[in-house]
Amino acid sequence: MKTIIITGGCGFIGGHFIRLINRLTDWRVVNVDKLTYAGSVNGIGNLQEGQRYRFIKADIVDRDRMSSLFAEEKPWAVVNFAAESHVDRSILDPGPFLQTNLIGVQILLDMARQYEVERFLQISTDEVYGDAEGKESFTEGSLLSPSSPYSSSKASADLLCLSYLRTYGLPVLVSRSTNNYGPHQYPEKLIPLMIRNAVLGQELPVYGDGLQRRDWISVEDNIQALYLILTEGKSGSIYNIGTETDVTNLEVVEEICLGVANDKGWEYEKLIASIRHIKDRPGHDRQYAVDTQKIRIELGWTPTTSFQSGIKSTVAWYLQNPSWETQSSDEDYQRYKEAVYSKQWGRSQN
Ligand code: NAD
Ligand code: DAU
Repeated sequence: MKTIIITGGCGFIGGHFIRLINRLTDWRVVNVDKLTYAGSVNGIGNLQEGQRYRFIKADIVDRDRMSSLFAEEKPWAVVNFAAESHVDRSILDPGPFLQTNLIGVQILLDMARQYEVERFLQISTDEVYGDAEGKESFTEGSLLSPSSPYSSSKASADLLCLSYLRTYGLPVLVSRSTNNYGPHQYPEKLIPLMIRNAVLGQELPVYGDGLQRRDWISVEDNIQALYLILTEGKSGSIYNIGTETDVTNLEVVEEICLGVANDKGWEYEKLIASIRHIKDRPGHDRQYAVDTQKIRIELGWTPTTSFQSGIKSTVAWYLQNPSWETQSSDEDYQRYKEAVYSKQWGRSQN
């Protein structure tokens, strides 16, 4: 039986990916996750520990731990989702982003080299290209010009991965997807945060004018693309993933208000009236846009979920799973919210 190490599998996208792998293959999955504030074992569903699934609570920055794990499991592939993933938190405190997103990747690359893995898929982001406003969509060969400490840490990791390919011949692959949405996302990101606040009757905080544009992809479409890259992608390749459509943040919030109003029988206009324009995120990119011809032509991938239908079912999922919101009742979340939304980018207290 083939073993694959998937890091960050208790996070949003990693959890969906593990369930897909479990459905599509007979591989043994070893999920390595530190369980930071963003990790929850609930996202994995009812996967039981056994021959086909093992969960290890560990930090990818812990070299000794990774070394004994790789020696024991001898994986054929590694997919690295583990990351500090929230741009706003990276503005408050870049330190953990450099640790996990760069040093952690170096340690995994070293392990992959030593244990001769056949595939190393680094989950990167479209944010490495920087602001797309007034520019052509970025291709995989475009210049990297990240704007935030988060995106800089991801861009640095991409370069490190590519250097391991060239220097050591490590078979790396890099995916760069646009903004994901769907069930099980931590309620600090735009879509779950807005659903949460709308349901609780709280203000809907929009940064700046709200006309920033994003290409939102359903997490299901994204994980299908990742599976194709892992199994059929050309070693050493980078693949952009996205829908090539975009909407403004205000349009996203309006769509969420519509979903919540319809589901709850509430007045749409009342929800819209809770939108508040607040101080903009420092260094905020106005737009992301990636060209996805490469994955469509080489691997035959295409997204299947429209934004409207995807948002509708996402809103419905969050309304039917109110317990997901308890994730945000801890002290860390309250401190974080205060730093961004009350102190408006004042220094964090930790
Ligand atoms: P997430 O924040 O929901 O989950 C990250 C997971 O990584 C958590 O379970 C956390 O506990 C774990 N983790 C963090 N630090 C760790 C460490 N040092 N060791 C082990 N585990 C650790 O993130 P996500 O939204 O699922 O994103 C997953 C990956 O996809 C990230 O690499 C992110 O950069 C990338 N990405 C995300 C999006 C998006 O829209 N969410 C888009 C493009 C790329
Ligand atoms: O583009 C891919 C990236 O998408 C991933 O690499 C990141 O891991 C992921 O977090 C996401 O980054 P964004 O910064 O685009 O996502 P976020 O949900 O934080 O914000 C989406 C947009 O909404 C962005 O323009 C900022 C805005 N926003 C966000 C929040 C949380 C608001 O206006 N108000 C808010 O309260």
